[in-house]
Amino acid sequence: MKRILVTGGLGFIGSHTVVELQNEGFEVVIIDNLSNTSIGVLDKITEITGKKPTFYQIDLRKKEEVKNFFDTNKIDGIIHFAAFKAVGESMQKPLDYYENNIGSLVYLLEEMRDRKLDYFIFSSSCTVYGQADELPITEKAPVKKAESVYGNTKQIGEEIIKDACKAYNLNSIALRYFNPIGAHPSIKIGELPIGIPQNLIPYVTQTAAGIRKELSVFGDDYDTEDGTAVRDYIHVLDLAKAHIAALKRLINKTNKENFEFFNVGTGKGSSVLDVIKTFEKITGEPLNYKIVGRREGDITAAYADTTIANKELNWKTEKTLEEALEAAWKWQQQNKS
Ligand code: WQD
Repeated sequence: MKRILVTGGLGFIGSHTVVELQNEGFEVVIIDNLSNTSIGVLDKITEITGKKPTFYQIDLRKKEEVKNFFDTNKIDGIIHFAAFKAVGESMQKPLDYYENNIGSLVYLLEEMRDRKLDYFIFSSSCTVYGQADELPITEKAPVKKAESVYGNTKQIGEEIIKDACKAYNLNSIALRYFNPIGAHPSIKIGELPIGIPQNLIPYVTQTAAGIRKELSVFGDDYDTEDGTAVRDYIHVLDLAKAHIAALKRLINKTNKENFEFFNVGTGKGSSVLDVIKTFEKITGEPLNYKIVGRREGDITAAYADTTIANKELNWKTEKTLEEALEAAWKWQQQNKS
């Protein structure tokens, strides 16, 4: 049985991927420094799968701790989620983001090199494309100058992995996520934003739950059908399954390059108002929102061309926007916070 290290494995996407890995018969070891999640997620994963993953609270910025972990743990592959990911915060604390997101990546790759570990899956983001010139966005779209420090750490991260794979003959896949949303069908794990949510869906559900007074829609003067910005909202369960598909590609050695990257989305664009209307159908209640000015750094539209991912990963999304919003709403109702 292959033993997979999942860094950030108690986070939103990480925890859903751990569940899928266990369902597929992998043994899972989680490293998380609990900076953006809670230890209770470990028990919830165990409740869902009946198997408790091995857990270490380690800060991947500490090179010695990382080395010591690999000295005492046999690992066959790594799925690397652990990173700071708040776009706005990254502009206020650039050095924290570069130290954490880049530093920890380099330490993990050094262990991959030294111990000849073979499989490395990297959590990247469609943010590397900025505002793409053509929609839907294919993997051929050029990577543009990042609009945020967070986006820059993803771009630099991909470059570092590419160079390491070439120099040390490693094998890695970067998954460029579009917008992950929703919660596990068991409603035992989901998104746990700390403080005021930056992302749309948790803000919508907290507004519907009465935790927030009203949702501010950031701009309705974009060049889109209804003037609000368009994104590709992918159910977190579908996203988790894409990681298993990518890991199997490396295990089966069907990858065509040492470093590959794939756009992971539904292929469908939804505007902010589309999301609100769909959500209102689910709750049967009008959502309290107002249109305000654009948010700095936001792009008009992004949605994936999923042709390559569907073919090469033998994977495609199965869940709809409605199912994701329904799960997010059930999750919110369970978590009064
Ligand atoms: C979606 C849409 C907002 C909040 C970011 C990162 C990306 C990934 C996902 C980490 C936009 C609008 C939002 C609100 C609003 N992060 N909005 N009112 O900005 O597309 O992507 O999060 O991996 O890398 O860039 O996601 O959910 O913040 O915004 O109107 O209160 O909702 O303007 O159009 P985004 P988002």
